[in-house]
Amino acid sequence: MKHHHLSLLLLFFALTLRSLTPTSAACHVDDETGLLAFKLGITADPSNMLSPWKKGTICCMWYGVTCNSNNRVRMLYLTGQPDKPNSSLSGTISPSLSKLKFLDRIYLQDLRNLTGPFPVCLFQLPNLKYVYIENSKLSGRIPDSVGNLTQLQALSFYYNRFTGPIPSSISRLTQLVQLKLGGNLLTGSIPTGIKNLNKLTYLTLERNGLSGPLPDFFASFPELRILNLTRNKFTGKIPASISALAPKLLYLELGHNALTGQIPAFLGNFKALDTLDLGYNKLTGTVPQTLANLTKIFNLDLSHNQLVDPFPQLNVKGIESLDLSYNKFHLNEIPKWVTSSPIIYSLKLANCGIKLKLEDWKPAQTYYYDYIDLSGNQITGSPVGLLNKTDFLVGFWASGNKLKFNLESLRIVQTLKDLDVSRNLVFGKVPKTVSGLDRLNVSYNHLCGQLPATKFPASAFLGNDCLCGSPLAACKKV
Ligand SMILES: *[C@@H]1O[C@H](CO)[C@@H](O)[C@H](O)[C@H]1NC(C)=O
Ligand SMILES: *[C@@H]1O[C@H](CO)[C@@H](O)[C@H](O)[C@H]1NC(C)=O
Ligand SMILES: *[C@@H]1O[C@H](CO)[C@@H](O)[C@H](O)[C@H]1NC(C)=O
Ligand SMILES: *[C@@H]1O[C@H](CO)[C@@H](O)[C@H](O)[C@H]1NC(C)=O
Ligand SMILES: *[C@@H]1O[C@H](CO)[C@@H](O)[C@H](O)[C@H]1NC(C)=O
Ligand SMILES: *[C@@H]1O[C@H](CO)[C@@H](O)[C@H](O)[C@H]1NC(C)=O
Ligand SMILES: *[C@@H]1O[C@H](CO)[C@@H](O)[C@H](O)[C@H]1NC(C)=O
Repeated sequence: MKHHHLSLLLLFFALTLRSLTPTSAACHVDDETGLLAFKLGITADPSNMLSPWKKGTICCMWYGVTCNSNNRVRMLYLTGQPDKPNSSLSGTISPSLSKLKFLDRIYLQDLRNLTGPFPVCLFQLPNLKYVYIENSKLSGRIPDSVGNLTQLQALSFYYNRFTGPIPSSISRLTQLVQLKLGGNLLTGSIPTGIKNLNKLTYLTLERNGLSGPLPDFFASFPELRILNLTRNKFTGKIPASISALAPKLLYLELGHNALTGQIPAFLGNFKALDTLDLGYNKLTGTVPQTLANLTKIFNLDLSHNQLVDPFPQLNVKGIESLDLSYNKFHLNEIPKWVTSSPIIYSLKLANCGIKLKLEDWKPAQTYYYDYIDLSGNQITGSPVGLLNKTDFLVGFWASGNKLKFNLESLRIVQTLKDLDVSRNLVFGKVPKTVSGLDRLNVSYNHLCGQLPATKFPASAFLGNDCLCGSPLAACKKV
């Protein structure tokens, strides 16, 4: 479903890898020594990634190693496969990597278990342009001397365990195009010196413990395409200078913070915006009507704020995911631009004041749906027809409505993991097919009969007319 996201990431990837021509020939002794020392620092290599690395063989042909036309090592590229837990490396990054004087790019991605502090060997590699050490367990502080790596065009420590503040010396890395520090344990505020990094296209600091107001410095990033500051502790208003990022910005993600104030009307100028995430903040007021101009938006999350009616009528050709849940909206109906979307896969409209007989909702397509959350509305009728047409549904939440249907008629597709129809008017028995779910809640309905064997707690079944059997009381013998 998210092809265009993928192609965007592939584009960044292609740009960073372009013009690399692998060569094979002898191996410079410094490069061989440095690489073998790196291998010595690795204590476990369960998929034998480094087993071809043997003294006296041509290091330019080793797995993960690429040389320049003078047979000097130019790139180290070792990546684990996210779906294969075995493809990991344990150990530390040897300081001997600094012997690889021509190394200009390091990719140590998804190796999961590289430990130790910030690799200071980087400071002795003057040509270094790209450093991606992602999804591992490096820890400690990011040292002030990071500011010495002034040739860097990309720096990513995405998903490690770095602590402490982002050093203000980072302002010296003025060639940086990508800065990715998401998924660490960083604290403190965003150093205002980041405003010097005028070439940034990609700034992602999500999932840290960063706090304070967002600096009003976004006019300094004319090339920015992706801004991800989600899941931190930022406070204050959405700064006015964000408006300078229009129309180029593609992703604006500020969700899961403590931002206050209104959603600024200038967001309507972000003609290229793909994703707007302002969910889980403390935003108030109405949603500006200018958002109707966001014709390219695919993902919109404004959930868990205190926003009020009226919600603008969007002019989108198709939306992929929408979450307006848990605000103070009274939408009355599911918006037409949602119902007509040919590509929607996630619809979350919990507590949105929707009054509807579910059979009367005729979405243009149902095939791609992964998630539907209509909890806490005033929806009547039955979801049986809808779930009959959603072949890949993963989650369906509709608690706290007035749905009336026989649970045994509800199709439970293999992909379904989460089903909550608690606090409705559901009748019939609990079918055996629910045992394949990860989570179930059918409490406070009118179900009856013996429960099938499942792993769910009693609270998933309480408050029905006559359900019996484990985890509820045993059924009476007839
Ligand atoms: C891990 O990889 C090694 C070497 O490729 C293989 O022998 C082993 O069976 C794998 N273990 C698992 C659990 O996949
Ligand atoms: C990660 O590395 C540590 C020490 O280097 C080791 O004790 C641990 O078993 C490794 N964990 C995995 C999952 O490989
Ligand atoms: C960083 O550069 C400063 C001078 O700009 C120098 O004093 C310091 O030793 C350098 N640090 C490292 C780790 O190279
Ligand atoms: C932004 O961060 C969130 C995690 O908080 C992640 O789910 C999302 O994919 C990120 N978006 C981009 C464009 O990096
Ligand atoms: C949408 O943009 C056009 C110009 O591109 C502008 O005239 C119009 O006022 C905008 N509409 C809204 C609702 O902001
Ligand atoms: C569900 O689909 C089956 C065939 O796939 C059909 O026989 C049945 O009538 C459908 N039920 C509803 C309520 O749409
Ligand atoms: C099921 O829903 C009820 C009421 O909505 C709630 O009190 C209970 O904790 C839920 N149980 C589970 C297992 O989700």
